[in-house]
Amino acid sequence: MKALIAAGGRATRLRPITWTTNKHLIPLANRPMLWHVIDKIVAAGIKDIIVNVNQGELEMMQKALGDGAYWGAQITYLEQKGGALGVAHVVANAEEHLRGHKFLFFLGDNIILGSINRFVERFQNENLDCMLAFSKVKDPHRFGVPEFAGNGDLLRIIEKPEVPPSDYAVTGIYLYNEEYFDAFRTLTPSARGEFEISDINTWYIENRKTGYEEITGWWKDTGTPEALLEGNALVMDDLPRDTFRIKSDVPDGARLQGMVQVGENTRISSDCLIRGPVIIGDNCAITDTYIGPYTAIGNNVKITNTEVEHSIVFDGAQIDTTRRIVNSLIGLNATLRDVKQSHPRTGHQLIVGDNSFVEL
Ligand code: G1P
Repeated sequence: MKALIAAGGRATRLRPITWTTNKHLIPLANRPMLWHVIDKIVAAGIKDIIVNVNQGELEMMQKALGDGAYWGAQITYLEQKGGALGVAHVVANAEEHLRGHKFLFFLGDNIILGSINRFVERFQNENLDCMLAFSKVKDPHRFGVPEFAGNGDLLRIIEKPEVPPSDYAVTGIYLYNEEYFDAFRTLTPSARGEFEISDINTWYIENRKTGYEEITGWWKDTGTPEALLEGNALVMDDLPRDTFRIKSDVPDGARLQGMVQVGENTRISSDCLIRGPVIIGDNCAITDTYIGPYTAIGNNVKITNTEVEHSIVFDGAQIDTTRRIVNSLIGLNATLRDVKQSHPRTGHQLIVGDNSFVEL
């Protein structure tokens, strides 16, 4: 089996972060979102992986994911030509690589906790032509939604219905047989001008053997900073305990509470309090600082005299402020520092893009 990961799209709501970083490379628990996706695919035994990227982003993706050797896999990159024509078209674009194969199609902004192994095994063991994963959600109208008959049979998938026929979303993790491309040739673009993956799924439900499985622990990036912070927290909770290791010398006075990971060559001063789950990367300097739960701090970050909680701090950022930083994304190489006058201490919520400079 092969796997195709969709990693295109512009993620305009996450600007300025996404001006310079493809959203699929935004770190969750200090690893690019796509790394978590590839972890799951490889764990399910699939090692031939194609990554569909935006035109012009080939190099950025190759730099971030490499050739797959890190996973013992092989990654092939494919540039999306002709603009965004819908999720179903992403697969059609990869036809020359996938023709004749069964494959897993994974939307790269979907994160699944736990494993997809059972999902893949059922597809193979039951000899299915298509396999879908459903997850119960509060807002099904934002997704593809399955409609069931009175007897529980799956009838069709409706894309972003105004009146959802069930409480389930079709998650962005799909398995198809080689007939996908026959199905694609029957499609016409939807009202929003896109080839809808829901129409492919309906074709399989109506014409072939389609299975489904309900999954929990599904997170999908909805393109907002809040969603990213939620994803970061979820992934941190999903990490095995033994990934939280302290790889630098931490002085006796520093208080590290709960699950804390500290990378190599990172200095933490003795007056710090770090309350996990927290992940701190390599080559950081954390001085006289409180770091609170669900904070992920990249590499080469300098934090002084500050409180940071429930935030993602990208590589190279520098924070030196008496203000409390909460629920924030601090972009690559961004600088936060105090103005000279003193002000009352309050919580601030910040979305700071790469190379930004903020005086608080
Ligand atoms: C796409 C699919 C939708 C699916 C969702 C899952 O939507 O069209 O059917 O439920 O992914 O992530 P999009 O996120 O492109 O709006």
